Amino acid sequence: MGALAQERARSLCEVDGDVEQLLDPCKPRCMGGFVDLRSDTVTRPTPEMRRAMAEADVGDDVYGEDPTVNALQDAFAQRVGKAAALFVPSGTMGNQLALRLLTRPATSVIAGRRQHVVIYENGAAGRNAGIQFQTVDDDDGTISVDDVRWALDAARHHHPQPSLVCVENTHMPAGGVPWPPDALPAVAACGLPVHLDGARLFHAEVATGVDAAAYAAPATTVMCCLSKGLCAPVGSLLAGPADLMADARAERQRLGGGMRQAGVIAAAGLVALRTMVERLAEDHARAHRLAEAVADRWPDAGCDPVRVQTNIVIWRHSRPDAVLDHLRAEGVLGGTLAPGVMRLVTHHDVDDDGIERAAKALASAP
Ligand SMILES: Cc1ncc(COP(=O)(O)O)c(C=O)c1O
Repeated sequence: MGALAQERARSLCEVDGDVEQLLDPCKPRCMGGFVDLRSDTVTRPTPEMRRAMAEADVGDDVYGEDPTVNALQDAFAQRVGKAAALFVPSGTMGNQLALRLLTRPATSVIAGRRQHVVIYENGAAGRNAGIQFQTVDDDDGTISVDDVRWALDAARHHHPQPSLVCVENTHMPAGGVPWPPDALPAVAACGLPVHLDGARLFHAEVATGVDAAAYAAPATTVMCCLSKGLCAPVGSLLAGPADLMADARAERQRLGGGMRQAGVIAAAGLVALRTMVERLAEDHARAHRLAEAVADRWPDAGCDPVRVQTNIVIWRHSRPDAVLDHLRAEGVLGGTLAPGVMRLVTHHDVDDDGIERAAKALASAP
């Protein structure tokens, strides 16, 4: 880092944090600055990823000629048991491509009411695919076969005709809950194609021992993010049948998502798939420790450590801002998910010391 940049980092840190961390971009956040538990998207690429990015063999991926992108797509397709895969800039684009490919305008997509594709994609589904969501309960993170059947039947009574079921595994707003292995086959047996939003599918794999391919088998398409917990700086993958992925490539182009020498970022994705999946167990154990601290402090806030199987801790509080201000004063960052719903997310850049600091801050929170 040059002298000017160092000076700037130092002046930023006077206001907000840890100079060592800004000077060394690979240094874990919790070592000196804030313990950042707002999201698992805040991770920085590991030194191995940075090396792989610098050395990546690249070509023009819009011509299909980037060897590193092709290797990543093949590795992912194999990992989730699909014929082909497509590298996309974000999880949102992966979900949107699936909607554009598997639905028709003026049909409905059956999905849990709190899923990312329903409420966190800025109205993209209506704009990109012209569909309407038929939302159903997803209190425990799954959707029920009875609700899917009900939505199919409702098409006889002026509800739109469902064209797709979309599910989320792990289900973020339910607290990172992984699906039971037999739940998705039952939903798929209702007869509609299924898109699996598996932004954190590898968290489910590590938590349950059910491999990602088994989870994805009943789904036509599956999307996973490399930049949530797996530490890659950018990128998600959509996988499915080969002809559908050829169409997805054309749709990606229409959305402006064709990338040229994208092997520079795909290289980090390959390292993510190879080295970052098993270690998610550490994040899960740390989330469990946080859940115990939350349950100790607020026994009736709906946080049961036994149910915290992956990296997300959710609980209710009547004054979230007061809790967040207190945590921040203790050097810990958290967030809210909905009115009165608090969230902490563990990830690679928070270690055991950071978790103990957060647990201590929670113990004295208002
Ligand atoms: C479950 C789920 N799906 C999709 C996405 C979208 O990913 P991106 O932020 O890369 O668009 C997210 C992002 O947090 C997510 O949590």
